[in-house]
Formats: sequence, C-alpha cells, structure tokens
Amino acid sequence: MTTDPDLAQATAARRAALVQALSDSGDLTDPAWRTAFERVPRHVFVPYFYDHTGRRISAGDAETRDAWFDAVHEDRALVTHRTGGAATSSSSQPSVMAIMLEALRVEDGVGMKVLEIGTGTGYNAALLTHRLGNDSVVTVDTEPDLIAAARARLIETGYEPHVVLADGTHGHPDLAPYDRIIATCRIDSVPPAWLRQLTDGTGSDAGQILAPLGNALVRVRRTGPLQAEGRFLPGGACFMPLRHGTADGIPTRRPALPTGKARSTDVPASALADNAYRFLLSIVEPHLDWQYDLDDAGRPTAARVWSPDWSRLEEVYRLFTEHDGPGPERYGLTVDQEAQHVWLDGPGGPCWSLRP
Ligand SMILES: C[S@@+](CC[C@H](N)C(=O)[O-])C[C@H]1O[C@@H](n2cnc3c(N)ncnc32)[C@H](O)[C@@H]1O
Repeated sequence: MTTDPDLAQATAARRAALVQALSDSGDLTDPAWRTAFERVPRHVFVPYFYDHTGRRISAGDAETRDAWFDAVHEDRALVTHRTGGAATSSSSQPSVMAIMLEALRVEDGVGMKVLEIGTGTGYNAALLTHRLGNDSVVTVDTEPDLIAAARARLIETGYEPHVVLADGTHGHPDLAPYDRIIATCRIDSVPPAWLRQLTDGTGSDAGQILAPLGNALVRVRRTGPLQAEGRFLPGGACFMPLRHGTADGIPTRRPALPTGKARSTDVPASALADNAYRFLLSIVEPHLDWQYDLDDAGRPTAARVWSPDWSRLEEVYRLFTEHDGPGPERYGLTVDQEAQHVWLDGPGGPCWSLRP
C-alpha cells in the first residue's frame, strides 16, 4: 500500500466522506460493508482511468493527478480499460457496488463462498475479501492484463482471494459450489454453468445469483437442479455486457448508426428518459442500439435509440402504460431446465422468454 503518509491520510479522509455520502443516500446501510468501504483504498485499484473524451487521467501524471484524486473518491463509474475505441472494463459506481453487495445477503462466520464474474480492477473483490476472507472469494475475468494488475493490487493491499483468468460464462467449476454468484457485467440470461455451481439446499440455504440483466439487477435463488427464481431490484443498473471470449474479439468501431431525421413515433421522448420503460424494452427487445449523452461524471443525461421497427417500441410502450408504468421491482425471473422467463407481477402474469 502507499507509503506516503500525507497521501494515506488524505485518501482516508476522502474515503470517509464518500462513505458518509453513501450512507446518507441510503445506499450503504450495513455496518460491515461500511467498514469495508472505509478500509479498502479504491485509489490503489484505479491508478488511472479514461474520461468521457477518452483522455487518460492518471495518478502518475502531474497534469491530471488532482482530477484523478477527486474522481476516485467520488461516486462515479470510471472506465479503466479500452479495446480499440470501446470501453471494456470499469470501476463501477460505488453506490451501485454498495447496493449490490448489500443485496448479495452474505452472512459472516459461516464460511460462505462467493464467485465474482468480472474482476476488472479488483476493487469489488477486495471489498468481498475484506468481509469474507481470502478462501471465500473467487473472481474471474477474461482479460489477462486486468487479471495480472488486479492480482498485484490485491496483494499490495493485503488481500489474496482466488483470482482466475477464465471466461466467467462457465463460472469456475474447480472451486464450486458457491453460496453466492455476483456478476459485475450484464447478462442476457442466466448461464446454466452458474446454476450448476450454486450450493443446493432448501430455502435460505440455497445458493443465490445477483446480476445485471437488461438495465436492472436481478436476484434469483436456486429452487432445484438448473432451476431458480427471484425478483428484480428497484432502480437501474447500467453495466458492460458479459462477453463471450476476450475483448480482442470485439469490433473496435461500433457499426455506423443510421443517419437522417429521426422517425416520428407515438413513444414520447420522456419515455426514453424513463428507466422503467427502458427496462421493459431491454427485456422485450434486448438488442436495440442505444446511445447516451453523458455528463462529466459519466451519468446519462439523454438517451436515443435506433430501431429497425418502431412499431415494436410503440407496442412495448402501450404494454408499459397499460400496466401503469411498472418499475423493475414489479418483475421477476423464473429459470428452469427448458427456458427462462421474465414475468410481471407474478409467475402467472405477462411474461417474456429470454434468449440464451
Ligand atoms: C464493470 S467491469 C467489473 C468491475 C469490477 N468488479 C471492479 O470492481 O473493478 C466488468 C468486467 O467484466 C469483465 N467481463 C466481461 N465478460 C466477461 C466474461 N465472460 N467472463 C469474465 N469477465 C468478463 C470485463 O472484462 C470487465 O472487467
């Protein structure tokens, strides 16, 4: 860890202020997670990041050092890895991390084992390890350079979870079963390997998965072999997708979006700004092309969407208004051996099947 006492003191004070802000907003309520956020130094895991213009903001650069120092102590998601022009890893927004860690419902002192999909910087793995211990945490990522850097930073800060270079789509069978699986990248459906690697058991003993799906978080509990069920949490969650293969395989340029005038549609512009409508759209039409305007902190200020078929967006909007604009917390997910369904209000309500 840093040997500069002035920096250590300054970062501890700024971390305490961030933790207080997360507590005041109600995102961080569990005292044990509060202690983890106070102790684990995010700045060590994020020695540089890329701002929204792609500029590298780094601790090691006198010109950008102050901006770096402020940003790593603010409630901001920070892009930390780019492949071609595309962001391929980030340190997630601390408030979202706190919400996810609390929603993971870990228990202390019972030897719980957690698998994290998406090591990234290693910061979330450090928080988990602080709380649960080295042997209880396994974290995987597809990117060799991310894994090497995360492993080094974890050791530097005194944590030694299992850090594994692997495609997390397959979980990590060698150390299964897991009481909890937490994904920090977005899934389109629950990978069957994760279901196979969950602790069996009944009721509260059964393993659970927490993951971004569409643009919200879902938590499911194992209900049988290759079966699980649970609900979405309130609020949005914007995550990078789970990749199949390494980032080297992704196109370095996004396909050109259609040009010309936007088509008129019955969907009001305000609906596109509404996370609840975007959630339903992300489930029913998962492969639309979205573009966001971001503010300096990387938060979306406007959303645009391209669709080859506007009537689908209008249909989804009609459905959305017919059901009084449901937020993600009114939906759930049922997984069984044949299919995965997102449902509204209950397993017998309107439902949509997820494509694997
Ligand atoms: C938002 S970042 C993770 C942030 C990280 N938890 C942290 O604390 O810094 C998402 C990560 O998911 C990883 N990822 C994407 N697809 C993956 C896959 N199939 N298996 C494992 N990791 C994957 C990316 O490489 C990226 O590092």
